[in-house]
Amino acid sequence: MHRPQATYILGIESSCDDTSAAVLCNGKILSNIIANQEIHAKYGGVVPELASRAHQQHIVPVVQQAIQQANIDKKDLSAIAFTRGPGLMGSLLVGTSFAKSLALALNIPLIAVNHMQAHVLAHFIDDERQQPPPFPFLCLTISGGHTQIVKVSDYFTMEVLGETLDDAVGEAFDKSAKILGLPYPGGPLIDQYARLGDARAFAFPRPKVGDLDYSFSGLKTAILYFIQKKVRQHPNFIKEHLHDLCASIQQTLTDILFEKLEKAAKSTKIKHVAIAGGVSANSQIRERLKACEQDLGWTTYVPPFAYTTDNAAMIAITGYHKYLTGRFSDETVLATARLKVDHS
Ligand code: KG4
Ligand code: ZN
Repeated sequence: MHRPQATYILGIESSCDDTSAAVLCNGKILSNIIANQEIHAKYGGVVPELASRAHQQHIVPVVQQAIQQANIDKKDLSAIAFTRGPGLMGSLLVGTSFAKSLALALNIPLIAVNHMQAHVLAHFIDDERQQPPPFPFLCLTISGGHTQIVKVSDYFTMEVLGETLDDAVGEAFDKSAKILGLPYPGGPLIDQYARLGDARAFAFPRPKVGDLDYSFSGLKTAILYFIQKKVRQHPNFIKEHLHDLCASIQQTLTDILFEKLEKAAKSTKIKHVAIAGGVSANSQIRERLKACEQDLGWTTYVPPFAYTTDNAAMIAITGYHKYLTGRFSDETVLATARLKVDHS
């Protein structure tokens, strides 16, 4: 079937431990396939060497499945968008090399995408479950690798107003979970158990860092020492208080995030506020953001779960907006492990 009006973008994501491919037609997602890598659970965190090997195993079948599910032929593709960075170098290399080769073989444009911009631009996927925010808006991007407040003035004009000086909030969730003996990644489990606990049961210290920046490493250490002390006194302490511990840890992390986000909204006078990234799947963070509509007069934007954790749909939508504005890459483009959100 020939559909000349349609722009089909293949998105490829391989920055960390998820291999994903998506096909998008004029802003709408036709497919979004994600292969998770179970292997890391055994080690309590992502092992870079194993991640790149698993990407290499998954990338061809994942791309094939995305094209098949979109019900198109690969010759229909208008361009290929891939994650250039930031991320693990070995993981990025797999997606980058594959995208370059396929673009060359199909003789179609190649589009390099910044993963952090893509988390933000996931809000622009044409999906009835979400409404795109108007420019300018603030986006709290929270994931396993990043925690930043971004002022988004246009699709590709983004400025970091504040960010973490050490661990990302996702790491804080996962490392706290590890201390509690929960498997990796522990963020979703803390979320689940927190619903059954009392958030005021335990008090943990709040970091004191300047301006709109964050810090989570001190909190992690405080939780570790607190738990070690309690377990010495009562060996069953974690088991008996698991729900209250999860609720208190989650409450602390949520409070820390919102203190700075509220400060950013006040100082910029921007009242359109979005969240993005894996940790934006957290139910308390979602509820807290929603409550800011009533409490602070914000209009808030929460992406559907499928677009929060790493996925290629967000890479494809970013690629689509780059395609519309002629932001193409040539074959010399390199995977880049460190890439700021203001860098395309
Ligand atoms: O965006 P993402 O998939 O990967 C990175 O780019 O890092 O984020 C993964 C992070 C992990 O730390 C995971 O524990 C966390 O998102 N996460 C959650 C929840 N779902 C995923 N953290 C708290 N509550 C959740 N429901
Ligand atoms: Zn991510």
